Amino acid sequence: MTVTPLGIPRRLLEFTLDGQEARVPEGSTILDACRAAGKDIPTLCEGDTLTPKNACRVCVVEVEGARTLVPACSRKAEPGMEVRTDTERARHSRKIVLELLASSVDLSTTPKVAAWIKEYEAKPDRFGPDAARLNEEPRVDNDLYVRDYDKCILCYKCVDACGDQWQNTFAISVVGRGFDARIAVEHDGPLTDSACVYCGNCIEVCPTGALSFKSEFDMRAAGTWDESAQTETTTVCAYCGVGCNLTLHVQDNEIVKVTSPHDNPVTHGNLCIKGRFGYQHVQNRG
Ligand code: SF4
Ligand code: SF4
Ligand code: FES
Repeated sequence: MTVTPLGIPRRLLEFTLDGQEARVPEGSTILDACRAAGKDIPTLCEGDTLTPKNACRVCVVEVEGARTLVPACSRKAEPGMEVRTDTERARHSRKIVLELLASSVDLSTTPKVAAWIKEYEAKPDRFGPDAARLNEEPRVDNDLYVRDYDKCILCYKCVDACGDQWQNTFAISVVGRGFDARIAVEHDGPLTDSACVYCGNCIEVCPTGALSFKSEFDMRAAGTWDESAQTETTTVCAYCGVGCNLTLHVQDNEIVKVTSPHDNPVTHGNLCIKGRFGYQHVQNRG
């Protein structure tokens, strides 16, 4: 039997969302309310298992009386607030953010971004070819995961997941300042020389595919990665008594990557190296 903790009962508060009355539990963000109302607000740096970082600003909405646009992912809903999600000002801001990001970072593996670029009529090429930022080769220095910082939007979700919000390993950090800021491990060296314990919890939260499974990276390079041909099966990790939930992504009868449900009340999408990467014995048919 699955036991779902109900938590402390929360008062409902009322406010106006695009002219309609909205009621959400106290403590909810504007984004929570938008999602409950079926509104598609673009988000990149928001992570459902992490404290909002407010790094990308693609989720902005208008709040009556507020001088600036507010990030829906972190601003808590307040009673009597009047929120408008689809005004010209909010849409224009999202368009510019998408243009700036897509002109400087490779967003080709970021889910949903192509649709948002189309929807907001963003034109990333208008800054010219010199806007490209890194143009560096992906770092392939181990058999488990790849770091492709050309795709990194510096949202710091991996830093939070590796640090005090989940893993407490602190292998991943930000080095440099301003334009030179980038994600790295100690001394910007190979992963194999770092404190990384290969839990892969950073991959789980990375929104752009800058961090990815080596299996996925290789299949993409070979042109065989096909999410439409994959099935997902959630099961229980058998390695130890913790009993984490694993979601096996299977293509052509092979496990191609392992994620974990974020709504699991114990693990919240986090795993250890065995659950995340230790699946080879399952498909060893030799
Ligand atoms: S590697 Fe991914 S999670 Fe980490 S900062 Fe870059 S985009 Fe965000
Ligand atoms: S993922 Fe790691 S901690 Fe979780 S059940 Fe498997 S071996 Fe145990
Ligand atoms: S998703 Fe809200 S600031 Fe990035």
